[in-house]
Amino acid sequence: MLLKNKIALVTGAAQGIGKAIALCFAEEGADVIISDINESKVKETAREVEALGRKSLALTCDVTDFEEIEKGLKLCLDKFERLDILVNNAGITRDALLVRMKNSDWEQVLNINLTGTFNWTKSAAKRMMKQKDGCIVNIASVIGLVGNPGQANYAASKAGILGLTRSVARELAPWHIRVNAVAPGFIATQMTEKLPEEAKSKMLAAIPLNRWGKPEEVANAVLFLVSDLSSYVTGQVINTDGGMVM
Ligand SMILES: NC(=O)c1ccc[n+]([C@@H]2O[C@H](COP(=O)([O-])OP(=O)(O)OC[C@H]3O[C@@H](n4cnc5c(N)ncnc54)[C@H](O)[C@@H]3O)[C@@H](O)[C@H]2O)c1
Repeated sequence: MLLKNKIALVTGAAQGIGKAIALCFAEEGADVIISDINESKVKETAREVEALGRKSLALTCDVTDFEEIEKGLKLCLDKFERLDILVNNAGITRDALLVRMKNSDWEQVLNINLTGTFNWTKSAAKRMMKQKDGCIVNIASVIGLVGNPGQANYAASKAGILGLTRSVARELAPWHIRVNAVAPGFIATQMTEKLPEEAKSKMLAAIPLNRWGKPEEVANAVLFLVSDLSSYVTGQVINTDGGMVM
């Protein structure tokens, strides 16, 4: 077991990639706090973690609300007394071409994807600095590296996450806190299900491995980055994209 008795918190863990990460961590021996705005699915995922024989906490919490995060973290510490791993995974898309993009869609994507990552990182880092130990993984996207028409807001938020990751990795290294990012390509979840068929086949043509990724394949990359297997790795980005960007 790579994460025996570790305490991990995953945001956006009610479904999709976040849920796969939470279950992967539980299978590797971690107790997992499930955080998301979707209350019923948060509870469902927490029950699935418990069914794997680990402890869990269902935390209904919006990543854009710093006060809610501070209260949520306190609940976690009351129950588990420490926090070893944070995965900032919550994210949304609101696609539109630049000239048609509503300012509110720009703001919402930046708020949830980038400011949400900053909020949880700031809150958890204070605790991890006290522990002089910890691991943070931020879920970015290959779109943050190469851009995509119709996703200026999303690409900017994910590129921002990469800058945040590298800066915080440098800041927190003296406290033995490692900070890395995973940049998935196209992964089969509810987020990508809604794309038009034409866009899907165009994207498939750009993937050397010639298939979409699975949430579990992203979870495995995250597992590497939060386990001791990567004890000398910080400030890095792992693309899990079937070779799209190389
Ligand atoms: N699916 C892909 O192809 C893909 C590719 C690259 C990156 N990603 C990134 O992976 C992450 C997970 O994506 P997914 O495909 O599983 O999407 P998803 O839509 O299936 O899941 C996202 C989760 O985030 C939660 N969430 C949304 N707003 C929130 C908020 N304000 N506070 C807390 N939780 C919130 C949702 O309720 C949902 O459970 C996202 O950051 C996404 O940008 C996904």
